Amino acid sequence: MWKAVVTAAVAFVLLFCRSSTLDNGLARTPPMGWLAWERFRCNVDCVDDPYNCISEELFMQMADRLAEDGWKELGYNYLNIDDCWMSMDRDEQGNLYANKTRFPNGIKKLADYVHSKGLKLGIYLDFGTHTCGGYPGSIKYLQKDAETIAGWGIDMLKMDGCYANVSDMSWGYPDMEMYMNKTGRPILFSCSWPAYAGGIKVDYSVLAKHCNAWRNYDDIQDSWDSVTHIIDWFGDNQDVLAPVAGPGHWNDPDMLIVGDYSLSYEESKAQMAMWAILAAPLFMSNDLRSISPEARSILMNKEVIRISQDSLGMQGRRVIKGGEDKIEVWTRELDVTFLPSYGIAFLNRRADGEPYNYTLTLGDLKFQYMMGYAVEDVFTGHQYGHYDLYRELTVSIDPNGVVLLYAYPSK
Ligand code: GLA
Repeated sequence: MWKAVVTAAVAFVLLFCRSSTLDNGLARTPPMGWLAWERFRCNVDCVDDPYNCISEELFMQMADRLAEDGWKELGYNYLNIDDCWMSMDRDEQGNLYANKTRFPNGIKKLADYVHSKGLKLGIYLDFGTHTCGGYPGSIKYLQKDAETIAGWGIDMLKMDGCYANVSDMSWGYPDMEMYMNKTGRPILFSCSWPAYAGGIKVDYSVLAKHCNAWRNYDDIQDSWDSVTHIIDWFGDNQDVLAPVAGPGHWNDPDMLIVGDYSLSYEESKAQMAMWAILAAPLFMSNDLRSISPEARSILMNKEVIRISQDSLGMQGRRVIKGGEDKIEVWTRELDVTFLPSYGIAFLNRRADGEPYNYTLTLGDLKFQYMMGYAVEDVFTGHQYGHYDLYRELTVSIDPNGVVLLYAYPSK
């Protein structure tokens, strides 16, 4: 009987979430793909650096990699252009167009190419007077720009918020959503509004009505410090952030930098695991033409992706903050028929050179099922065995590393 009650309650909550949120049918699980910004920035020097500059060539090459190297099949299907793709001015009719030297065939042709590979193409606009890189902004052209990108066959829009008043965003982002809806083309809408409005000083229920995802906080940089800074912010503000995430509408802690210059192997696993626990969009920003086998194996780990893409869409939470031991424990509730299973991340914030043994019981994590859980390690596949709520579980976590477990109810 109680199983039926729990199932009905979950169904009610899901129904309620759906009816009050953006209904373009997109991003039912956190979107996945590739985004140019963190790795390739605003490199427009195609004369001296043709291999790395923001150009149609770069995006076609990344499309080839996504389609041919197994990424697409795992769900990484959005290829996203960021800033610095435009010409510095609009045409005589006020339309945006791509820089003609770097994108000689225009965005429509690029979209056709990307679609021919079974991928989707995302683009970048800015709500203000200019993009962050100084290119034309959309504030006076929302409808025109929505029609332009829909006409090109764009599938996702990241709308940034440089050079804009935050107070204008509360009409601007909803207007843009309306204009995109009017085009009839489903376009996944990523809004940078909260990042410009101080992170938590926005009404997230309004955001969830108009956006499929939103950048909450600082830009990620290529460093472990930056990754942990963002994780801390998400933990500190989880009571505001976690309840607003769900199918169709996600908090976005920014890009995955796995495969870039700075993160160690352990740190890379930690970012991937934490982004899965946070139900974050998984947009890699790296060079897929030369990515190392280690980085590839982390980003392609099917079990981690399964946690990321869980259909319940609950964002995980930091349940043990860690004191002197500097070990944090995060859990994410995962979908099952009547009892939740969990992803559990043990994040080691120590850098003292040796793996750290950490012990707890599942009861400490407030798990409920008296019969207990089967526990396995997501990265190694190691089966820990069966744990009731009182049996002590010990994990060994490498410095700046993570242990990611999957625990499911079992007798
Ligand atoms: C802002 C955004 C970044 C990127 C740049 C482009 O800083 O937060 O993600 O889009 O602008 O200029």
